[in-house]
Amino acid sequence: MKSLTVFLAALQSAAAFPAVMESLSKRQSNTCTTSAKCNEQYEVTDADIGYNPNAPTAAQIASAGRNHCGNLVPCTLFSAAEQYVSTSGANAFQSPKSTDLRGPCPGLNAAANHGYLARNGVQSLAQTITGLGQAYGMSVDLAGILGAYAIAFDGDLVSMTWSIGGPQAKLGAIDSGQGISWSHNKYEGDTSISRCDAYINNGDAHSLSPTRFAYAYYEGLEDDRLDMDKFARAFAKNTHRSIGQNPYYFAPLFSTTLVSPAAYNFVIAMMSNHTADQPGGYLNEDMFKTFFAVTGDYPNYEWHPGQDRIPDNWYRRPSAQPYTATTGVFGDLLSEFAAYPDSFRFGGNTDGVNTYTGINIRDFSSGLYNAQNLFEGDNFACFVYQNIQQGLPDVLNANPLVTAAVTLLQKQFGIAFSAISCPAISEFNNNNLPPYPGRSYSPNPPSNAPQNC
Ligand code: HEM
Repeated sequence: MKSLTVFLAALQSAAAFPAVMESLSKRQSNTCTTSAKCNEQYEVTDADIGYNPNAPTAAQIASAGRNHCGNLVPCTLFSAAEQYVSTSGANAFQSPKSTDLRGPCPGLNAAANHGYLARNGVQSLAQTITGLGQAYGMSVDLAGILGAYAIAFDGDLVSMTWSIGGPQAKLGAIDSGQGISWSHNKYEGDTSISRCDAYINNGDAHSLSPTRFAYAYYEGLEDDRLDMDKFARAFAKNTHRSIGQNPYYFAPLFSTTLVSPAAYNFVIAMMSNHTADQPGGYLNEDMFKTFFAVTGDYPNYEWHPGQDRIPDNWYRRPSAQPYTATTGVFGDLLSEFAAYPDSFRFGGNTDGVNTYTGINIRDFSSGLYNAQNLFEGDNFACFVYQNIQQGLPDVLNANPLVTAAVTLLQKQFGIAFSAISCPAISEFNNNNLPPYPGRSYSPNPPSNAPQNC
């Protein structure tokens, strides 16, 4: 079973790069803390990311015009009864027990602390879809694909569940998946909002850095408001930070090129409050701190591991205007990449210091996509979708457990991508990629790692 888990764990990297991950130096952390290196100040200016507030580009003006629900399906509806998210009774906040699993995602941690997800941190696909719809208005297709991916790559194939934190308890003699806390380069990626890059924090990419949290809120400091455009800038700046601070910075297609920037949009799209006056939503420092389990005032913040909460008297986006994979995630990423091209990075540092080298899209996609057409129409969604598809094994000959996980993932992909049609591609060319040291960095959890942070 261990080899099965390892095999599935290798799938995502195989999707981008089929070479089997070898273990490099496995620097590990057994605390919920962040290193001095991670909290080191590293200034990146607006000018560094090509932004001049007095003369924004057309794409930056369009990016700033997005409301909190995203540019393709802005929220226009408001119903207090439908959008109110209870934080009492069965949904009262409870701190996680020492054995409950919590991890790098404040959205999941808060949902579990309020009983919208299983409080022990181990989720089935059905729980994931129902709970995230109720708590945040995440669409069935997006929750389905994210949950199925977590089961296939980091979850337990026997029970078809996944952990929102570290490894689940073993089922008898069988190893379960590592959970999303220890899914570096598979699910979890560099350049996060408040979490450190794994390598510069001794392998721990789930503990919150107060310094990074302050960098994120800085973008909204002037008027105490965060929005899609400000967070697009925060992502572009953090990408510069990762490249400059982390010799092992590496951006595979799924984790760092898609999940990491999407998480910035998730804050705005699913943590904003909605009112009759502001159906499009707004997000201030108080709400941002509540979700992320942070107290204090800018720039002096303190993190309280595992205490992520949903604010009281908070109204999520309407169920009729949910955040979906295509209208939400890909729609907003295209706005972001157009406005701040520095935020699209598919590659990594090559020399073990801080020299970034991107992957040549034309070579990689055997000529089908290139830097010009990648962001036209559905091409970027197709590029990601086809790349992951290619990495999935031949289900007919695989072990039944792998077959079940892959079939589940294929089904969810089919649902999420049913509205787009993609050009046929012969194959992705994984050969001759630059020597990215971070590509092989895959830290494991120490046996005494705390579970609820
Ligand atoms: C099945 C659903 C979900 C899965 C599997 C998932 C998984 C993850 C993972 C693996 C990360 C780490 C990414 C990184 O390295 O930056 C992450 C981060 C994040 N997620 Fe989720 N997530 C889910 C749903 C949500 C929802 C519903 C929200 C918002 C309400 C959310 C908000 C965030 C945020 C804000 C971060 C960045 C945290 C930080 O950098 O401090 N996620 N999530």
